[in-house]
Amino acid sequence: MVASQDEFHRQFGGVVPEIASRAHLERILPIIDATLKQAGISLDDLDAVSVANRPGLAGALLVGVATAKAICLAINKPLIAVNHLQGHIYACRVALGGAGDNDSCDIFPCIGLIVSGGHTSLYRCAGPIDFELLGSTIDDAAGEAFDKVASMLGLPYPGGPAIQRAAADGNPKAYRFPRALLDDTERLDFSFSGLKTAVRYKIAGPGRADFSQIRLSQQEIADIAASFQEAAVDALVGKAVQALQASGMSRLCIGGGVAANARFREKMTQAAVLHGFQLHIAPLNLCTDNAVMGAIAIERYRAGLFEPLDLDAFPT
Ligand code: KG4
Ligand code: ZN
Repeated sequence: MVASQDEFHRQFGGVVPEIASRAHLERILPIIDATLKQAGISLDDLDAVSVANRPGLAGALLVGVATAKAICLAINKPLIAVNHLQGHIYACRVALGGAGDNDSCDIFPCIGLIVSGGHTSLYRCAGPIDFELLGSTIDDAAGEAFDKVASMLGLPYPGGPAIQRAAADGNPKAYRFPRALLDDTERLDFSFSGLKTAVRYKIAGPGRADFSQIRLSQQEIADIAASFQEAAVDALVGKAVQALQASGMSRLCIGGGVAANARFREKMTQAAVLHGFQLHIAPLNLCTDNAVMGAIAIERYRAGLFEPLDLDAFPT
């Protein structure tokens, strides 16, 4: 089960940390109750309790960690810590029907690409809980760029789906926005702040701007959205291909909210055919944050990787 808090953040155009932790606090016990009820089990039926304790907003992580520890203490069952980012890649395996013992659905080893609101990173993934960071964004995450550009265009939060909808009526070649770092094949990092600034200049020119006063036609909004989306997608696809080539690996697994983007999925699929690699993109319902990502806990349970009850949250 998923409790979304998008509606609370929409009016601010992005996630407000204080609101996020308060919403976690209010919703965590009701959603645990509802989940147990739907599954037809009680707390005593659990073998262990898992919690994502990294990375993320400190306040929100602490609510989850404290709740998980309290339940473990109450029912005397082990505590398992999950790395949220590993869960985004593992969603590809869950989608194939694999978790835990089902080795026929294995997706490892692979290059893992996580494209979300907080992260844009490439990993060499030897196994479900064995990740080596190859490169990351040096400024904004891809999803953050979608959200900020949407806000500049007067589109609602979350910006990714709104940009995708607006882009459907636009020309992706109307404006040539930058695809950062693609010339540097040695470096597997991303950068989206230059792209965001280029869009800002297109909309408002340099200097201070009050975006609420800027009037764009529907066609201009569509063209800017489509051209921005094309540049962001090209940067993501280009670096993922470079990571595959540099590592000699032939399988790419992708997760995170931005992986729900239709143009991204289309261009990544074309790249897989062109460059001959195996591609797994998390299905739409598992791209954005959800509890199925916690299936990574099954791997840790099997490996006997449990945590003491003084487990901490690690925001970065
Ligand atoms: O993984 P996620 O649900 O949350 C974390 O950040 O961990 O990702 C949320 C991000 C937001 O920035 C949202 O705008 C973006 O994913 N997103 C999309 C689409 N759907 C969600 N970006 C582009 N196109 C989409 N269709
Ligand atoms: Zn996420």
